[in-house]
Amino acid sequence: MSTTKQLAETYKNSKYQVPGHGPRNIHVLQNALAELDGNLESDIYGKGQVIEEFEKKLAAILGKETAVFFPSGTMAQQIALRIWCDQKSVKKVAYHPLSHLEIHEEDGLKKLHLIESVLLADKTRLIRLEDVKNMDTDVACLLLELPQREIGGELPEYEELVAISEFCREKEIKLQLDGARLFEVLPYYQKSAAEICQLFDSIYVSFYKGIGGLAGSILAGDEEFTKEAKVWKRRHGGDLISLYPYILSADYYFEQRKNRFPQYYEQAKELASFYNGCHGITTRPVVPVSNMFHVHLPFPKETLEPVFQAVYEQAGVGLAMALHAVDEASCYFEVSVGDNYGGIPKEALQHAFRVLDEKMKEV
Ligand SMILES: Cc1ncc(COP(=O)(O)O)c(C=O)c1O
Repeated sequence: MSTTKQLAETYKNSKYQVPGHGPRNIHVLQNALAELDGNLESDIYGKGQVIEEFEKKLAAILGKETAVFFPSGTMAQQIALRIWCDQKSVKKVAYHPLSHLEIHEEDGLKKLHLIESVLLADKTRLIRLEDVKNMDTDVACLLLELPQREIGGELPEYEELVAISEFCREKEIKLQLDGARLFEVLPYYQKSAAEICQLFDSIYVSFYKGIGGLAGSILAGDEEFTKEAKVWKRRHGGDLISLYPYILSADYYFEQRKNRFPQYYEQAKELASFYNGCHGITTRPVVPVSNMFHVHLPFPKETLEPVFQAVYEQAGVGLAMALHAVDEASCYFEVSVGDNYGGIPKEALQHAFRVLDEKMKEV
């Protein structure tokens, strides 16, 4: 077995796993549906009580007129950008070079919608107001991702967000929020979801990241926008005859976890400080601004996989399922704090980090 597979196996078999909410098995769906009345009617092609009530509820939480439930964020965001491009008759949008649209969607926006992307900032940092002001081409929409996942989940300060929003309104550039992890950043900003969303024209939020549902997303905006979004959802085959397993689980885990994000955020800061106390290890950001961060290690992934495996075996604590190469000499992994963290005895955690520190010194 490869060292990568061995690490994953040892992680899964550890007594405790540090990140996340627990295994993604079918209990996630079973638990969400267990207490529901079996006579509740299914949604049908985007209509019905189950879907409409959830859409109304989320529109109110996000402070927008209306909302549409989508099976995926990929579908929702490409559609949002398409609508803004059609409205302005400009087939260009701006976003970060490490945005999900640019690196994880097989160029869907370009191939399906013939929309060009203008990449702002560079791969090492956030988009700043200056980047938006210095754009030398007209775009229909700017997409901002909060937090910027691929650089460890960094966030602009609230004042800078306001300034970018004001600038975009003045220049008639629509602002789309990639809020895959919106609820995760609210404790840092000390703002409600609606307060953040009022800076944006359209918003996407996910229900399977910090919320921990099965899959699915909400796209919110004004009535004209969501009416268009529903037509595009149909064109994309996104109107599954029934989406209720996704909707009901999204709602169930949203209700269960919506007030736990301040706790995850505090725990992420504590966990990052444990990593930063280990020889050679740094987190990005050093002090997290949400429940997520990246852990950077100054050795090749192949060198460290057996080291991490030994830590899991010795301490009974799994830190990460996989390490990812940054280059030939270093690697990283992502951490998202969820329900698991609070269930691990402090002594077990501290022991794991003592073992990790010792083993890192020996590498
Ligand atoms: C920042 C961000 N945007 C968009 C998406 C797309 O979401 P989905 O997997 O629902 O298509 C993801 C998924 O990981 C994401 O992390």
